[in-house]
Amino acid sequence: MKTLFLSSKQVKRLLTMKDTLKAVETAFRHAGMGTVEMPCKVYLFFPKHNGDIRVMPSYIPPLNISGVKVVNVHPDNPKKGMLSVMATFILIDPRTGFQQAIMDATWITMMRTGAAAGVATKYLARKNANVLSLVGTGAQANTQLEAMMIVRKIKKVKLFDARKKRAEEFVGRYQKKYRAAQFRIARSLEECLADADIVCTMTPVRKPIVKAKWIKPGCHINAIGADAPGKEELEPAILKKAKIVIDDWAQASHSGEINVPLSKGIIKRRNIRAEIGKVVAGLKPGRTNDADITVFDSTGLGLQDLTTAHLVYKLARKKKVGRWLEII
Ligand SMILES: NC(=O)c1ccc[n+]([C@@H]2O[C@H](COP(=O)([O-])OP(=O)(O)OC[C@H]3O[C@@H](n4cnc5c(N)ncnc54)[C@H](O)[C@@H]3O)[C@@H](O)[C@H]2O)c1
Repeated sequence: MKTLFLSSKQVKRLLTMKDTLKAVETAFRHAGMGTVEMPCKVYLFFPKHNGDIRVMPSYIPPLNISGVKVVNVHPDNPKKGMLSVMATFILIDPRTGFQQAIMDATWITMMRTGAAAGVATKYLARKNANVLSLVGTGAQANTQLEAMMIVRKIKKVKLFDARKKRAEEFVGRYQKKYRAAQFRIARSLEECLADADIVCTMTPVRKPIVKAKWIKPGCHINAIGADAPGKEELEPAILKKAKIVIDDWAQASHSGEINVPLSKGIIKRRNIRAEIGKVVAGLKPGRTNDADITVFDSTGLGLQDLTTAHLVYKLARKKKVGRWLEII
């Protein structure tokens, strides 16, 4: 039997943000209904290299799909001309355990991370939210922008990155594509957040950089950067007054935006409003008031990768993309 191999370029050609948003929403809905199996990510740390790898298996019985992603995070990689986050996905047929496909999941990781924030924004941001602030304009920022542009009518995009050149390159990439929106590089983080309706934070910082006094009522925040123990981007005072929606309790409490404030006792489990799957499945409320500050704590679920990788596999077969190789 043969396994389908797909390169990063091939995956990139097959996957659109619109389709990824649907795939991730499906993953969240199944998680909310409890029709999934997904153990916590397993981490292996390389402290002397300032990096780690994570192994993420998952299974959705009603869809008959399963698989595992292996992904790294090495924040110093851009200095070496490499991506901070790189990944491989193995799609496994649950009926036999056979490896149906082995594909690059670097692009899938970026797309499903953007789509997770997109789905959260669709359910949690105010309907008329139109000012987007991007904090950190590295690799993840690209797909955050793509997703936000689909789920809300964004008129203004404000950006801030510790390395201004990265923000300039980002604007260069997107200003033409999204002509209707006005792009502005902020001189400070405070300026970037000043009138934001939606904020996406995507930095690897370990000390909060977003201050509570800069966040206006009604704002929705996608906290993306904190995805390992000890990482946090938001001042805990934001979480104390916000309606917090997480992607998964086990993961978020261990390694999401809430992990540090929880471990210090600043917030408690009862302060978490819901897991996003429960909101998507209509089992718990999200935003209930235009003045609510909502925070989506994203750690990234194996299920998001699974539904997205399965979609890629189906598209690749339909469009005859990739190489079939016998590895077993
Ligand atoms: N939640 C998820 O599902 C998920 C998925 C992938 C990556 N991540 C995390 O998201 C973060 C970003 O990942 P990436 O791949 O975009 O990394 P990246 O290295 O490509 O980009 C990070 C950007 O943040 C900027 N930055 C760093 N410190 C800053 C500060 N104090 N203020 C403003 N900007 C600052 C850097 O200059 C860089 O441009 C990482 O922490 C990564 O682990 C989360």
